Amino acid sequence: MNRIDRETIQKILDTADIVDVVSDFVTLKRRGANYIGLCPFHNERTPSFSVSKSKGICKCFSCGKGGSPVNFIMEHEKMSFNEALRYLAKKYNIEIKEREMTDSERAAESDRENMFNVNEFAMRHFEKNMLETDEGRDIGYSYFRERGINDTAIKRFRLGYSLERGNQLLQQAKAAGFSEKYLVETGLEARREDGSLYDRFRGRVIYPVHTISGKVVAFGGRTLRSDKKVAKYVNSPESSIYSKSRELYGLYQAKKAISEKDKCILVEGYMDVISMSQSGIENVVASSGTSLTQGQIRLIHRFTDNVTLIYDSDPAGIKASLRGIDLLLAEGLNMKVVLLPEGDDPDSFAQSHSTTEVEEYIAAHETDFIRFKTEILLKDVANDPIGRSRAITDIVKSISVIPDDIVRSLYVKECSRTLDIDEKVLLQQIKKFITEQAEQRAQQQARDKARESINGTDLQTAAPNAAPQPTAEAVAPEAAAQTAATGTNATPTVNPAFMVADRTRAGVLAPYERDIVRYIVRYGMVELPTIDDNDQPTTIRVIDYVLQEFEFDNITFTNPLYSRLVDECRALIDSDWASDRETAEKNSLEQRAKHWEEGTAEIRNTAETLELIQQKERMLLEAIDTEHFARLDRHTELFFIRWLTYSPDDDIRTLVTDLATSKHKLSKVHSKYSHIETERDRLQELLPRAIYALKNAILQCDMRLKHDSLNAAAKQGDMETVKKLMLEMADLDKLRRDYAQKLGDRVVLPKS
Ligand code: UTP
Ligand code: MN
Repeated sequence: MNRIDRETIQKILDTADIVDVVSDFVTLKRRGANYIGLCPFHNERTPSFSVSKSKGICKCFSCGKGGSPVNFIMEHEKMSFNEALRYLAKKYNIEIKEREMTDSERAAESDRENMFNVNEFAMRHFEKNMLETDEGRDIGYSYFRERGINDTAIKRFRLGYSLERGNQLLQQAKAAGFSEKYLVETGLEARREDGSLYDRFRGRVIYPVHTISGKVVAFGGRTLRSDKKVAKYVNSPESSIYSKSRELYGLYQAKKAISEKDKCILVEGYMDVISMSQSGIENVVASSGTSLTQGQIRLIHRFTDNVTLIYDSDPAGIKASLRGIDLLLAEGLNMKVVLLPEGDDPDSFAQSHSTTEVEEYIAAHETDFIRFKTEILLKDVANDPIGRSRAITDIVKSISVIPDDIVRSLYVKECSRTLDIDEKVLLQQIKKFITEQAEQRAQQQARDKARESINGTDLQTAAPNAAPQPTAEAVAPEAAAQTAATGTNATPTVNPAFMVADRTRAGVLAPYERDIVRYIVRYGMVELPTIDDNDQPTTIRVIDYVLQEFEFDNITFTNPLYSRLVDECRALIDSDWASDRETAEKNSLEQRAKHWEEGTAEIRNTAETLELIQQKERMLLEAIDTEHFARLDRHTELFFIRWLTYSPDDDIRTLVTDLATSKHKLSKVHSKYSHIETERDRLQELLPRAIYALKNAILQCDMRLKHDSLNAAAKQGDMETVKKLMLEMADLDKLRRDYAQKLGDRVVLPKS
């Protein structure tokens, strides 16, 4: 639970140069103020990957990927946020300082983070148990060594042991400040009938399961007893952080090798992954004994198009696993299959052969999946015409889900040969299947859509098997805004109809909110002229101005991400602005001194009279001061972008990268001016307008809601309510006119 120290991040941020970082992987050419190259995240022939040195951001204008140096490294090297920071620190020889989290930081972490933290603690606890207690060494550690697992692999997969007696984990986790709640929710502790807790994995060796970014999401615990009555494996239960169907064992350790080799090897069990990996075949993952799900396939597909399944030659197992495979084909993956010699599984095979032998075996026995399936299915039905026709249908079905036309037609040709069936017949059958599938998909989409419009899950990228999201959390901020904006305290009773209306409201407000967040991100620290309570001229920062306006009218963002972003901005001002500014000033003054020295030397060398020297020096001074202030201005403008593109919050980094690179069009009024004015020049006019637009939209939403209620009340003949609502609507309308008026009065002074 250590955090990389703020000071270290500051150093990385100050040193890491986006052009330099990207250049390690992409050839860049200078174009105007930016650099441009071929995007490393998708195939392209004309460069659309653009790097802005001054903003410290890269972005592909075709596939949208990119961001700060840390984003780029995360994406390109498949690293987690912390790994990417460490990578950059290493590249620039920056020493990494870590620190414990403070109590208030711990308290502020969300439930999910608390669960990840307690899992991380448990993993370290199990590791320590195995290596530092007698029982752990004698039982856990020696078990792994007997199975041929070496220390490197034990460390790489973070293997551990949970002691047989007592409830050590419970006690130690509580002593370290973790609450029982999270120990139970993660399933580390289970409850007896009498309500007491016990360590779920007692007396088992531990296999931690990591997410793609390296967070500990679950555990598998294997018993060391041969007793048939004891479950061989106990696994963490599903929870708000763990959905079995969306994780793959070993992917975190394997992802780099998968990218590099452009191939993923799929096996069944924990031990298969560990033994293969230890023997040097590192691009290997396991579905942990269940058939593959769509979510798992998508995970693999982020790294490669090529999947090789390794089976032990147990026929029942093979048949069972054939079923899930159409999913892989439908996802457009190229599927190969390898059968191991009788009696071997990947674990035993890797333990008894050298890396080269395993690699050679795979290369020699890799069979294309359709061909493999054809062989297996036809073998059983040689003299059975009905069975044969069923098998053919099955095979043709598999071919029909392949999305690529060319690949599909190649298979049709081949199958026509091996099955001895006319290509036309096969094609006709395939066409029928494709139509059926399209119809099914359309129906499914319609159902999904109907469900979304009720749940509002369209705002989340939920996978089909995703754990249900807590809806209360998603709705609450909007309900709060609702109450706040109408200025009444009447909490609306939550009925489904209302929630639908509320969703729509979030949808209506989205572009207005985004616009304001854009101003905060791009110009948050810029000072605008205004007047104080005593009518004296003063200045106010863009972010403070927005927050002041929000507070005045009790507005909060309906989008929780935007609220998080504003919170992070505030925290940045408190923790980093002063020192960041100081560094920027110091650097700029150094540059100024250097220019002065060089400039005066040059003047003395070239100017002929004392008078000329003095005159030129005055001009030089003016020029370098202008430069100095421009640099500071630039620093002010980039403060939030610089820091937020290094935020530990994935969503914030992505949002800020988008906002920092989006091209914003100025309104038509702009073209009237003869000289070019930037958005920055017109902030004091544009920002109040943006806020007014949001307020206006909120009022429109409220009016519409009130109008609906009014209609409903009128229909029921509830004249009391009708009267009340009409009064409220009149109030809202007045407020709306006030806003318009206010914009006319200009809260922020116009440019002189
Ligand atoms: P295996 O029984 O093949 O396990 O189940 P293994 O990993 O090869 O373990 P060893 O070699 O006997 O030590 C394959 C996978 O199925 C899941 C586990 O993920 C296991 O790795 N499984 C199996 C369970 O989750 N529960 C079980 O009871 C059995
Ligand atoms: Mn095994």
